[in-house]
Formats: sequence, structure tokens, C-alpha cells
Amino acid sequence: MGFMIKILTIIGARPQFIKAASLSRAIRNKFSGKIKEVIVHTGQHYDDNMSRVFFEEMEIPKEDYNLEVGSSSHGKQTAAMISGIERLLLKEKPDCVVLYGDTNSTLAGAVAAVKIHIPVVHIEAGLRSFNKSMPEEINRIVCDHCSTLLFSPTKNGYINLVKEGFPEFNKTPYTSDNPKIYHCGDVMYDNAIYFSELAEKKSDILKQYELTSDNYILATIHRDNNTDNPERFASIFLTLNKISISNKLKIVLPLHPRTSKALQSNLKKEVYDAIRSNPNFILMPPASFLEMIVLEKNCMLVCTDSGGVQKESFFFKKPCIILRPETEWVELVECGTAILTDVDEKKIMNAFVQFRNKKNLSFPPIFGDGHASEFICHELVKNFSAD
Ligand code: UD1
Repeated sequence: MGFMIKILTIIGARPQFIKAASLSRAIRNKFSGKIKEVIVHTGQHYDDNMSRVFFEEMEIPKEDYNLEVGSSSHGKQTAAMISGIERLLLKEKPDCVVLYGDTNSTLAGAVAAVKIHIPVVHIEAGLRSFNKSMPEEINRIVCDHCSTLLFSPTKNGYINLVKEGFPEFNKTPYTSDNPKIYHCGDVMYDNAIYFSELAEKKSDILKQYELTSDNYILATIHRDNNTDNPERFASIFLTLNKISISNKLKIVLPLHPRTSKALQSNLKKEVYDAIRSNPNFILMPPASFLEMIVLEKNCMLVCTDSGGVQKESFFFKKPCIILRPETEWVELVECGTAILTDVDEKKIMNAFVQFRNKKNLSFPPIFGDGHASEFICHELVKNFSAD
């Protein structure tokens, strides 16, 4: 039978465009007669280099709706999204809502859908930092507990769900009271494999910034507890600058808009002046996905507070210094390829020395086989086709 299911995908922030690209590609290539996707962009990220460029490079279909919520406080931003999403759900009547990750757009989609009894599908379920002062941790927990199908990219994510009371052996039909949990690999790994070669062909970012393989550290910083706390913010920049100067190494730092603003308002003047007078400290605008891949593949190591960049460092077999006290991606630390340093100068320095001297790290295949999206599509069709 040519019965199609209709899914409504909600995206809003940069990491979600990246994750959604993988599922949209699987639909286009293998499920075009079975899944119709309606895409809603909340407008949480709106700058071209935070949004549009990802749609173009990663061939994400243009969104059907844009709620244009923009930036504001958590409450205001999330409330505007919930009300806009509810209106679209009532109009579109999808078979399910597909949500990614842990942003305010994820939270809004989950709350809007579950209240009007539309099944929620959460991709990247089960991740926990066990730190509820992070807005993302609240978003993850709420979304998981509103969901009907939960796809965890890692074994630990799956185990977290079991510990929170999600049964392992529920029988169909699945509902929000009888949810189904899966361990299925990571859609971001699907992308890393798919775009890896293309990135090297298409991006000339290394040439543009005179970078050569292994002569730079790739750094990203955007978490609010790092950007908005002047002590922590200064500690990160001071330490990176010291490493750069004493090792004659470049630091390459694509700037998230929040971080750009914080450089002006939150960074102590003497630290700001020090990094600006070091020609090896390279601040650049946000990188596109292909640029980011090239930067990740060729760097000496990664230093980040981002979840996605932590994982990508692993996909491309690079060590990672995590500028946070804890991580959801505990496997990376267990494998010894990532070290949690928080923003402590000594710990960052030690991690740097450890990784510089240790060349034989091992990166086992813990994020699936590059076909997580196809698995998810298959399960969506199986569970939401009326027969
Ligand atoms: C959001 C997510 C975070 C994710 C990150 C990826 C939440 C709670 N957090 O954080 O989990 O890792 O996206 O980037 O949802 N801004 C711009 N232009 C833009 C987008 C944002 O200037 O296109 C500015 C806003 O004015 C705001 C700041 O960046 O001051 C933060 O934006 P917001 O979307 O609230 O959170 P992120 O820090 O991006």
C-alpha cells in the first residue's frame, strides 16, 4: 500500500539543523514514498551563518514554516515557540513530532505536542549531565518524559533511561505512557561519514587562515556558564593564550554570537588585549558545517564546551579537552580520548601535555555504523503507519 506517514520536524538551533540533515537525507534517499516531512524552524537561531548556511551546505529541505521567535529570556522564547508550534500541530495534524537534542526548541516541541496527544519522537534521548543548572539538562529530561519513541545514540544514554524508569520490553502500541526506548547509534556520526570527503574538497578554510595539519588547536566556547561568568571566561582565554605562546601553536576559535558579545562585555581588558596582540590567536566568524569538519580533521586537538564538537573530535580521531565539569558523552572520557578539565588552568595545561605526548589513542566504534537515521525512519514507518 502507498500509505505515507506525516512527520513534523521541529528545529531551531544550529546543532539541530545538523542532526536533522541526516534524517532528511535518509527520507529523500530511502523513504520518499513512505514518509512526508513537514519542517518547522522556530527561529531560535536566525543569523545566516548560524542557520541558512547549514540548510544550503547540508541540503536540508527549506522549512515549511518559520516561527521567527528570535532571542529573549528562556521563558519568553520558549513560550512563544510553544504557542506557535501548537497552532501548526493543530493545522498539520502529523502522525508524530520529531525533536532533536536539548535546546529550548526541543522543550517547546515536546510540551506543545504531548498536551494535544501527538506522539513525540526524541532523537538523542537519554543524555544526562546530572547538572540541572544547565538549561539543556532540564530540556532533555522534560522531552524524554513526554516522548513515545526515544532514540539514544549511546549505551549510557539508554541505561540512563532505564534508570529513570523507562521499561526495556514494552509491547506495541507505544504511547507516552507506554514508551519505547532504543539504542541506535548517532545521526551526527552518519553526517560525519557522509560529509567528510566532500568537506575537504569544498572548503579552503585551512588556506584562508594559513593553517597546516596539526599546527593548531581548534577551540569553541558558547555555554552560558562559561561566557556569562567573567572569571571562568577569562580563565579559558588566559590558558589558551599561554599554551599558544609557549608552544608556538595557533588557536583557532570560531565565535558563537553569544561568545562574540561576551568578548566585548565580559572579558577583562588585559586578557582581551593579550589575545588580540597574539597573532597566533585566531578569532573567526562561526564556521559552516563543512569548514568545521575540515578544522576538526586537521587540528592537533580540540578544546570545547560543546557537546556536538566533543563527539566530532572523536569521530575524526582527535583528542578533546572538555571545558566543563561534566559531560553527557561519558564514553569519550572512559576511552581516554577526552579529559574533563572544567576551566581550571592547571588541569587544561596537564591535559594538553598529556595529549601532546600520547600518540596512540584508540577510538572504538561506539556511535553506530553510520546508518542511525535509516534505522529511525524504519521504526517511524513501522510504528505510525495505520494498518
Ligand atoms: C542554544 C542551545 C544550546 C546549543 C546552542 C548551539 C538552548 C537553551 N541552548 O544555545 O543547547 O548548544 O544553541 O549553538 O536552547 N544569537 C545571535 N544570532 C543567532 C542566534 C543567537 O546573535 O542566530 C545570540 C542571541 O542574541 C543570544 C545568544 O546568541 O544572546 C544565545 O542564543 P540562544 O539561542 O538563546 O542560545 P545559545 O547560546 O545559542
